[in-house]
Amino acid sequence: MTAGTGGLVTMLGIETSCDETAAAVVTETGDPARPWRVVSSVVASQMDLHREWGGVVPELASRQHIRDICGVVDGALSGAALRLSDCDAVAVTHGPGLVGSLLVGVAFAKSLAWHAGRPLVPVHHLAGHIESLVLEGGEMPLPAVVLVVSGGHTSLYRIPSRGRYELLGRTRDDAAGEAYDKVARLLGLGYPGGPAIDRLAQSGDDRAVALPRTRLTHADRNARDLPGHLDFSFSGVKTAVSRYVIGRRTALELGPEEALPDREIADICASFQRVVVSSLLDRVFEAATGEGARSVGLAGGVSANGRLRRDAASRAAVAGLPCFVPGAALSTDNAAMIAAAGLRRFAEGVRADWSLNAEASLRL
Ligand code: KG4
Ligand code: ZN
Repeated sequence: MTAGTGGLVTMLGIETSCDETAAAVVTETGDPARPWRVVSSVVASQMDLHREWGGVVPELASRQHIRDICGVVDGALSGAALRLSDCDAVAVTHGPGLVGSLLVGVAFAKSLAWHAGRPLVPVHHLAGHIESLVLEGGEMPLPAVVLVVSGGHTSLYRIPSRGRYELLGRTRDDAAGEAYDKVARLLGLGYPGGPAIDRLAQSGDDRAVALPRTRLTHADRNARDLPGHLDFSFSGVKTAVSRYVIGRRTALELGPEEALPDREIADICASFQRVVVSSLLDRVFEAATGEGARSVGLAGGVSANGRLRRDAASRAAVAGLPCFVPGAALSTDNAAMIAAAGLRRFAEGVRADWSLNAEASLRL
């Protein structure tokens, strides 16, 4: 273990699964209630690169990761005032995600670990998002129910014991963040759409537009092991917003360059957000009751949403459960959460060999 840290492990984490190149140093604290501490964390976002295309372009993303990774890892080590040889192990996201993007991080982490003679720890991206809650707020009372909700994922997990994640439900079509981004595009609000809708919704009437709420009652024939009633679906509400917008544009006789009135846009944002947030939280709290959860959590980019956070906090208070939500820096993709999940796995004895590969559809 690192000299001078009294046997506490220091982990270098690397994350490149989508459009953020990230590296971080996280150490064990020795306190079982708050097991990890972020020493440094660097994120190079590619948001500006992808904005003009209205979404992430995989080939551009992997090329940009190659350009950024040396500087980002260097920045994380120098921010921690450490050399590579001061780190006890290297943790890397090996899936799920864009395969070309993942490959950059996996190949880089393998080279570093081999060069430094340190073990390599494979991390599932969603395990990273879940452990971001522990990194931020300490160990969660178990069993816990955690929703990971981002641009690529909307999945509900039960955590029966530390480091175990059982899938309870997931989206059958769009991720919630993807629905935010698509609706924002329909309204001409730019990319990424989540923050813009969140902001505009504050001044809108959330009952102004009647939108459908999808409730899945049957098991998914592609995943019979899941109960089904805890699954999500957002393509219906997205299509309903699209139809509504087309109808209003026709009624107002707007030209292709003309936008709907600000008031109407705010009402659509607020109504869409009410439906998405209540669909998410209904499943979370239904699962929490069914599973006898002692805490609940929200992780991933959409967990930054103001209404989601407020409503989750008030529903958790009514249910008498602590609600774990990451701060802004840990909610979107970062490597501190990967290093934290890596520390959990390292302590369990998990190591990768040099054949570790990127897996676009890796299961947790
Ligand atoms: O976790 P993340 O950074 O990347 C992955 O998709 O893995 O999440 C990005 C997503 C985008 O879809 C973005 O629109 C959404 O999170 N998002 C939000 C908010 N901030 C980011 N959605 C709703 N409200 C927000 N405040
Ligand atoms: Zn993510």
